Amino acid sequence: MDNKNLILGIETSCDETSIAVISEGLDIVYEKTFSQIEIHKLYGGVVPEIASRDHLAKMQILIEDLKQNVDIKRLKAIAVTSHPGLIGSLLVGIMAAKGLAYGLKIPVISVNHLEGHFVSPFVTQEIKFPFLMLLVSGGHSQIIIAKSLGDYHLLGTTIDDATGECFDKIARMLNLPYPGGPQIEKLALQVKNFNNFHFKPCLIDNETINFSFSGLKTQVLYKTEELKKAQNGLLTDEQKAEIAFAAQKAIANTLVSKLKIAIKSSEFCKSEIKNLIICGGVAANQFIKNEIQQLCSKNNLQLHTPSLKYATDNATMIARLGVEKMKSQKFEFNVDDIAAIQPIATNKIFNKN
Ligand code: KG4
Ligand code: ZN
Repeated sequence: MDNKNLILGIETSCDETSIAVISEGLDIVYEKTFSQIEIHKLYGGVVPEIASRDHLAKMQILIEDLKQNVDIKRLKAIAVTSHPGLIGSLLVGIMAAKGLAYGLKIPVISVNHLEGHFVSPFVTQEIKFPFLMLLVSGGHSQIIIAKSLGDYHLLGTTIDDATGECFDKIARMLNLPYPGGPQIEKLALQVKNFNNFHFKPCLIDNETINFSFSGLKTQVLYKTEELKKAQNGLLTDEQKAEIAFAAQKAIANTLVSKLKIAIKSSEFCKSEIKNLIICGGVAANQFIKNEIQQLCSKNNLQLHTPSLKYATDNATMIARLGVEKMKSQKFEFNVDDIAAIQPIATNKIFNKN
């Protein structure tokens, strides 16, 4: 471990209770995450009240463990996800950050969860601005031009279901457990006949960079209902794999089509961008990464993706952003101003033009 300042990151926006410590020299000193997947699986999705209560129980365990493993007097700031997310879950992380910061007399850095995902490929590397970014998570699908830290231009966004949400809902139609994305990816690998089903990607003939996945969801629903009706309410394993493959392909085609439009946009052309980032939970999907890699190769773009561990929610990316904000002294909140952190609108991080 280097002797540089340490930054603690705290993430509790949804169903992961996670804390991590990174040095300003980018050494990862500590990281631990409790996932609530096994709890929410029983309900087919995240139950907010249960999530908050579990965060509360796990946060105490994590802080005790942190104290056993890291000299917390070396902490120079605490970066905490303050928005967007489930309000009860966010509050557990924010209150833990405030309490620790008050005791240690160090500042709290308010972190936008999406901005945390943006830096996730750079947990152990310098961040290379400017870049084009595809954020695909359980709550968002966005294409963004990032000129520098905090200077973001939104090119396109979700108009109905987010990409991860679409994976999760299609998985439910196939009776697969929550979260559906990894399940669909695994099942699609088992397909024998790639051409039995085709689903049309949505809104791709349109010049908009915005995303729509609700039509794809409906196509899959109609197809599964039609097959089930003819087969005593049951799908065969091969049919499930074929549907998973075709749906994943339609999602990948949608993302690639929207990126193609973004690459032709005047904002992109004047930005001299050489790097593309995919981030958010769906960035764990190898099929999608392969399709986007082909687009990058044709357009001389270098693709950056987070390692699997940092694709889904984690505190290490929050601490990594904390390191950058510490360097630029962008605290947004100070320990003397104890009421200041409040969840704020997601679109506040984007430029209006
Ligand atoms: O970023 P994340 O952990 O949480 C949010 O901020 O929303 O993303 C979770 C989403 C879920 O919808 C999950 O199904 C999806 O990411 N996901 C995947 C994969 N792994 C996670 N989707 C497709 N393929 C995967 N391998
Ligand atoms: Zn996330």
